[in-house]
Amino acid sequence: MTMVNITMNGQKVSAPAGSTILQAAKQAGIDIPTLCDHPALIPVGACRICVVEVKGQRTLITACTFPITEGLEIQTESEQVVKARKLILDLLFSERNHYCPYCEMSGDCELQNLGYRYGLDHFIYPTYTKGFPVDATRKYFLMDHNRCVLCGRCERACGDLVANHTLGLRNRGASSMIHADANVPFGQSTCVSCGTCLQVCPTGALCDKRSAYMGHDIQMEHIKSTCNQCSIGCGMEIVTRGGNVLRIVGDWDAAVNGGLLCKNGRFDPLYDERKRVTGPLLRRGGKLQQASWEDALKAVAERIGSANAKEIGVLTSSNATNEALYLLNQLFCKELKADNVGLLNDAAPKLFEKPQGALADIIKSDVILVAGCDPVKDQPVASFLIKHSIDKGARLIVVDGKDNGLAPFAYMNLEMANISKAIDIAERAQKPVVLYGAGVTEKAAGALKKLQGKAAFVSLEPGVNTRAAVSFGFNNGFKPSAVKVLYTLLGEQNIEGSDVLKKAGENAFVVVQASFVSPLTEQADVVLPMAIWSERAGSLTNTEGSVQKVNKAVEPSGEAKPDWEVISLLADKLGKKLGASLGEISARATQELK
Ligand code: SF4
Ligand code: SF4
Ligand code: SF4
Ligand code: FES
Repeated sequence: MTMVNITMNGQKVSAPAGSTILQAAKQAGIDIPTLCDHPALIPVGACRICVVEVKGQRTLITACTFPITEGLEIQTESEQVVKARKLILDLLFSERNHYCPYCEMSGDCELQNLGYRYGLDHFIYPTYTKGFPVDATRKYFLMDHNRCVLCGRCERACGDLVANHTLGLRNRGASSMIHADANVPFGQSTCVSCGTCLQVCPTGALCDKRSAYMGHDIQMEHIKSTCNQCSIGCGMEIVTRGGNVLRIVGDWDAAVNGGLLCKNGRFDPLYDERKRVTGPLLRRGGKLQQASWEDALKAVAERIGSANAKEIGVLTSSNATNEALYLLNQLFCKELKADNVGLLNDAAPKLFEKPQGALADIIKSDVILVAGCDPVKDQPVASFLIKHSIDKGARLIVVDGKDNGLAPFAYMNLEMANISKAIDIAERAQKPVVLYGAGVTEKAAGALKKLQGKAAFVSLEPGVNTRAAVSFGFNNGFKPSAVKVLYTLLGEQNIEGSDVLKKAGENAFVVVQASFVSPLTEQADVVLPMAIWSERAGSLTNTEGSVQKVNKAVEPSGEAKPDWEVISLLADKLGKKLGASLGEISARATQELK
């Protein structure tokens, strides 16, 4: 790497060639203030707050956009620089409503912090002469134009990161406003509610409705974890205060998603209104009644212990952790020799033994072949990567019989029977990538193998931890009729009970390990309460095979326990010792997944 030597505030600084003054300063631990700049976004030099003095330059220079060259001499806090920054701040504070005590972001606002940093203690110019509208038409967050500083971070996030291009700027000068599409209310726009604009906004202009006024960042804890709403496994931070989850934000450091989240991952888990199962339930005299863990597990162990291997059935949701799936396999398949086990969702066909690509290949590709899956609906962050790649010039071919969410963006839409046309185009491309799901037919799967060595392949699994579930033997092999004891690890999955019960034999003893009350739990013989996504630790395997850590952010509701612990306790009751600690079980599960 070629290094460039410069001087900053009299201090010698070296930084890689191509760095901006701002990047070089960051590396040297010199703090240059910013407002429109954000590390995840392309710099545009809009706000001018980062101006610095560069020897030999006629005017002050924006540090976020100016590349360093050998011998540059820079002053980052000279009298002239500070004066310019104060003027910019005075103008920004006067332009709209920045009466901080009334703002939700007060205490966490980047504009307010700059005001403190540069000693602004009163308004110099007349303030708030014009009222702007507040648009609260979106479900999850609102836009208060009165707090907006027109930094454009939201617009760049929506266009350059999410590739949704909903946001833009209208009007001129002081009347400029961020708008959605052709100036429609946000709630009626093409916005997909991913919340990336909300996450990058430096002021209170974009405001989360659910966590508003619940405290300052300093009073909150940020716990890194992995989203369990689909098989992408996006890195996220669970933001809590006083044992409650306030919001979810994207983890900028996460390799899979680089900070992006979708609506399903960022907002939906916090709006789940389903009733929790908070304690074990046992059917006595035809009625489900509260029971102790001891009694509930004893009843399950007795039934399982008196059934033969052929009479035991196991169905699992794919939102179970690696640890729970590993223990489920150890207990039921290895120890109890049950082979009638299955998964509550489909899985993509297995095309190859070894991985042939990664999600990161999507944005490097020139042809993207999407077959038998709909990432817009099922793996939204993957759809953002696909659309981003299309923006960069890639061509998309969708091979799917149904109404696919990506169809409007495709250069070609084909039926599965015509997949060979797509394969021909991919064969002539430089860097094709194939994204395939459970909808790929056996014949189409065979045809796709022609591209081995040429294309990167990534399966987009339906469900969540489907890849691990399949590795541990839970796939579509479940045969319902013979089952006398049905153990269902339902977790948080939303499912109609009758579908599952229809699969079991008549009079089967049904055990459900679940987080929420559902028609299935109401018909079960034993219900074991399970912790939800924010209450458990462990790991998940994402669709490309990365094992990702899940961390506990809050205590489980009532007597609920993490999925793996319930199975471990049941194993103990059956006299099978499967491992004592989470660390031990995690290590063994990860080893088997390799
Ligand atoms: S929520 Fe996402 S899609 Fe909607 S405007 Fe913001 S960045 Fe764009
Ligand atoms: S809404 Fe926020 S991110 Fe968008 S321009 Fe205004 S201040 Fe910047
Ligand atoms: S794409 Fe999937 S893993 Fe990522 S935030 Fe959305 S639901 Fe969660
Ligand atoms: S941060 Fe550099 S111009 Fe805004």
